Amino acid sequence: MPGIGLFEAIYSARSLRHFRPDPVPAALIEQVLDAAIRASSGGNTQHWTFIVVRDPAMRARLGAIYRKASDHQAAVYAAQPKPQHLTDEQYRQFLANSGFLWDHMADAPVILVPCLTRRPRPVKETLPESVQARYAEHLDNVARVSGSSIYPAIQNVILACRGLGLGTVITTNHMLYEPEVKEALGIPAEVSTFALMPIGYPTRKYGPLTRRPVAEVTFADRWGQAWRPAGSP
Ligand SMILES: Cc1cc2nc3c(=O)[nH]c(=O)nc-3n(C[C@H](O)[C@H](O)[C@H](O)COP(=O)(O)O)c2cc1C
Repeated sequence: MPGIGLFEAIYSARSLRHFRPDPVPAALIEQVLDAAIRASSGGNTQHWTFIVVRDPAMRARLGAIYRKASDHQAAVYAAQPKPQHLTDEQYRQFLANSGFLWDHMADAPVILVPCLTRRPRPVKETLPESVQARYAEHLDNVARVSGSSIYPAIQNVILACRGLGLGTVITTNHMLYEPEVKEALGIPAEVSTFALMPIGYPTRKYGPLTRRPVAEVTFADRWGQAWRPAGSP
């Protein structure tokens, strides 16, 4: 096991989008995936599949789709104000780093595509009446939390990459053109993609990560009631 502590990994695993062209050894990719599959999934279904894309032609196809989708995202960013907590310089860096990936997704030696297979729904009539009465809401909730059975695994990928000296970033821009991604990769209809994760040896530094402080994003016991930091009177 590599000698980096859990909290060091959490505090420094920033989004990395610049990679050396060197291939990532298969043993390391497997270690990353072995960490991914330690994550929880709703009902412990583990209905995930990970596609490791190394073929340059396939990476180029995915890169072109990501590029196209990112044009939309760029327009959305341009129409939105800068998040208040970011300085002008932090926001400039965020835009520059994100923008770099628009043209360089395919340069990463690996693009990991985490997927989930949709589970068949029980037939409504087979359920107790009280459950049938709220079945539409139930299905809405299932749709709303659909990604929550893969995003914990994705976070494990991010941390495992950090621990192994690799870099990555979760990206979702491709979603607008997901059918094209599925067609390129031959993904069946009942399977959805949840991210494109470029992985490689980073040419930029890890963290530190700056975030809004805990006291600013936490309430105690109920909404609106300030959280008192440990040690405060
Ligand atoms: C749900 C989600 C979707 C994201 N999609 C993209 C994306 O499409 N492209 C990208 O470059 N970064 C994407 N990111 C990465 C964020 O931009 C990044 O985590 C954030 O700016 C913080 O950067 P840092 O970890 O380097 O501090 C995404 C992150 C999340 C959590």
